[in-house]
Amino acid sequence: MIKIKNLKKSFGNNVVLNGVSFKVEKGEVLALIGFSGCGKSTILKIVAGLIDADEGEIELGAGKLGMSFQYSALFDSMTIADNISFPLYIDKETKDLPDFEIDRIVTEKLSLVGLPGINNWSPSELSGGMKKRISFARAIVNDPEIILYDEPTAGLDPVASTIIEDLITNLQKETNAASILVTHQASTIKRACTRVVMIYGGKVVWEGTPDELFDEKNTNNYSSQFRDGAVDGPMLVQH
Ligand SMILES: Nc1ncnc2c1ncn2[C@@H]1O[C@H](COP(=O)(O)OP(=O)(O)OP(=O)(O)O)[C@@H](O)[C@H]1O
Ligand SMILES: [Mg+2]
Repeated sequence: MIKIKNLKKSFGNNVVLNGVSFKVEKGEVLALIGFSGCGKSTILKIVAGLIDADEGEIELGAGKLGMSFQYSALFDSMTIADNISFPLYIDKETKDLPDFEIDRIVTEKLSLVGLPGINNWSPSELSGGMKKRISFARAIVNDPEIILYDEPTAGLDPVASTIIEDLITNLQKETNAASILVTHQASTIKRACTRVVMIYGGKVVWEGTPDELFDEKNTNNYSSQFRDGAVDGPMLVQH
């Protein structure tokens, strides 16, 4: 479970989050959407404990947390296997696992993301889409109960996107994790997410299901502007 209450965060004079509240229950994949720069990645980083909020409360159920980053954030000097297994070495429950067991887990996760056999490659040998999938494998390597995905399908071709979307859905069924998924992609919202929260002006401006978001009859000013990609609407687009 993830519970966020009245989260505020500014960078200098730039007020990014101005009282964001929402909840994610176990088994839910919450799509966090909103225009570029509205603070989606900032929310994930605060939930992951990578940066501090200025104000607000975050409650996380017990259990591990995994995060896949917007720009993959792989360690270039390490092999793919070492990148994926990294979270296992910083967790006291798994840090003493024997090498063969770690190899087994890494090999299993590589197959899961459709990239078997590249254990000893370096990140520089991979395409952007392959890096995304490795970042995904690393996020789930320790079977987390809270998973944060920052644009897991951005820049992937449609088939690779579908593979990741279905992985997220299957993982959700298997682990019953509470997840937040940041995306701009309609296919990912429809295929992988159970609920949607839209951020604008530092606040939640709309909340609903993927079906409601894409329903042509939905006339909510915010969600219909996002759905239609309309320049005109309550949300001002910065260029
Ligand atoms: N470490 C930082 N220092 C200063 N400003 C920051 C920092 N991190 C984020 N910001 C600012 O906070 C705002 C929100 O950034 P964030 O990365 O959360 O946006 P986003 O919604 O994830 O956008 P995108 O869809 O483009 O990824 C932006 O104005 C950004 O410039
Ligand atoms: Mg972002």
